[in-house]
Amino acid sequence: MRPERTALSVAAPRGQAAGYGRTRPRSRSCSRTCSQCAVRRYEYSGCASFQVSYFAYRDRQLCAESVPLARIAETFGTPCYVYSRAALESAYHAYDQALVRRDHLICYAVKANSSLAVINVLAQLGSGFDIVSGGELERVVRAGGDPRKTVFSGVGKSAAEMRAALAAGILCFNVESESELKRLDHVAGELGKPAPVSLRVNPDVDAGSHPYIATGLKESKFGVAFEDALPLYRSAAAMANLRIIGIDCHIGAQITDVSPVIAALQKLLLLVDRLAAEHINVTQIDIGGGLGIRYRDEMPPSIAVFSQALIACLGDRKQRLLLEPGRSLVGNAGILLARVEYLKHGTHRNFAVLDAAMNDLIRPALYDAWHDIQPVKPRQGLARRYDVVGPICESGDFLGHDRELNLAEGDLVAIMSSGAYGMTMSSNYNTRPRAAEVMVSESEMHLIRERESVAQLLAPECLLP
Ligand code: LLP
Repeated sequence: MRPERTALSVAAPRGQAAGYGRTRPRSRSCSRTCSQCAVRRYEYSGCASFQVSYFAYRDRQLCAESVPLARIAETFGTPCYVYSRAALESAYHAYDQALVRRDHLICYAVKANSSLAVINVLAQLGSGFDIVSGGELERVVRAGGDPRKTVFSGVGKSAAEMRAALAAGILCFNVESESELKRLDHVAGELGKPAPVSLRVNPDVDAGSHPYIATGLKESKFGVAFEDALPLYRSAAAMANLRIIGIDCHIGAQITDVSPVIAALQKLLLLVDRLAAEHINVTQIDIGGGLGIRYRDEMPPSIAVFSQALIACLGDRKQRLLLEPGRSLVGNAGILLARVEYLKHGTHRNFAVLDAAMNDLIRPALYDAWHDIQPVKPRQGLARRYDVVGPICESGDFLGHDRELNLAEGDLVAIMSSGAYGMTMSSNYNTRPRAAEVMVSESEMHLIRERESVAQLLAPECLLP
C-alpha cells in the first residue's frame, strides 16, 4: 500500500563541542512521563527545558506523533528518515514568538534539511531561507519559498549562481570576500539589477564548536576579517551595482552557550556604528545560525533564552534582526529508522549490523557525533553492549558504539536527532540508494521522497563507445 503523495503535491508551487565526539560518557538519555497524557516520552526537545517530544513511546512502541514507527517501516521500508511536522512547526514558532516584539526574519538554513516538504512547511509559516547554492535556491522556489526572504551565503558563489539569485530577486547576498564583491558588482551590472549586499564579517570569536564546523575564527575560510570589513564596506559603497543593506556573521554550529554569539553581535554592532558615522547605513543585522540541540546531555539555551539574549544586546536599535537557524529547527524533528539485519556476538565485541549505514547518516563517522539509538519495540530481558554498525566496507561505518540494547535480528531501531545534516549529507557510497523520507502529521504519514533505486543511480552513466 502506498499513501498519496500529498506532501509533494503541496510543495509543487575550540576543541570538541557538545554533540560531537569525545564528549563526556554517560549511560543513557533521560526519559520521563508526560504529566498531561501519561505517555512515556523521550526528551528530544531542541532545548534544555522540557518540551513535549514528538517521538515518544505509546503502548510500548516508539511513535512519530501518533503513528507507530513500525507501521512506517512496513509501508515504506527501511532505512527511512521520519520527520514530525509538529516538531518542526513548534521549533519555528519558538523563534517567531520569542522575537515577536522586534522586526525579525528567520531564514531557515536549507543545508540542514533541504527536502521540499520541509521547506514548504516552513514557507507556509512565513519563514525565510538561507541558501548556499543555486540548487538550494531552486529547491526554495520549487517548494513555495519566497526569494525576497532568502539570503545567499557561502564562500564560492559562481557567476551563474549570482545571476540566478539576482533574477529571482533574493533579499541579500552575504558576501565573503573582496573578489566576490567585485564579481557580484560585475554580474549585477550586466543584468542591470543592483545587488543587495551584506558583508559576512568574521568576528574572531570561538564558538566552542567541533573544529570542522567552527567558522568564526581567524583561521577559518569564512567571511572577511574584522579589521578588513570597514575598508571593504567603503569600496562596496563605491561600486555602482551594489546596494549595501546589512551586516552578517555566523560563528559556528552546535553552540551550547550564548556568550560567544553575544560577543560576535557586539563586534558587529561596533562596526554598524562606525559605518553609520561614514553614512553607510545598514538596515539588517544577520547573526547567522548555530544554536545547538540536545543529542545526549548537552544543555543548550532554549530558543527563547537565546533569542532574548540577542534582543537585549540589540537594545533599541532599529535594524531588522535576521537569524539563520538550521539544526535547532529540524534536528530533533527527525529520526532515521533502520532494521537490524544481523547480530554478531563475539568474545570481544558484539555487533548489531543495521540496514542503515554511514552513507545514510555520516555524522558519527565524520565528527564522531553521538546519536541516541532506541529500539522501536523494546524487549524485556537483559541488554547486551553493541557496536551499532552499517553494511559498508569501512571500519568507520558505525552509528553508535557501546550501546546497551536488547535486540533480535529483524528488530527496528530509531537513530534519534537525525533531522539535521542527515539526509542532506547522505551519499551513494557502495552504490547504496538513498533512504526514503516520510513526514508525519498527527495520525497521517506522507511519503515526501521515494527511496532511490539502483536503476536511478546508474541511469546517468554509460560505457565507453
Ligand atoms: N548559516 C550559515 C552561513 C551556515 O554555514 C550554517 C551551517 C548555518 C547558518 C546553520 O547552522 P545551524 O543552525 O544548523 O547550526 N554538518 C555539520 C554542520 C555544518 C554546519 C554548516 N553551516 C553537522 O552535521 O553537525
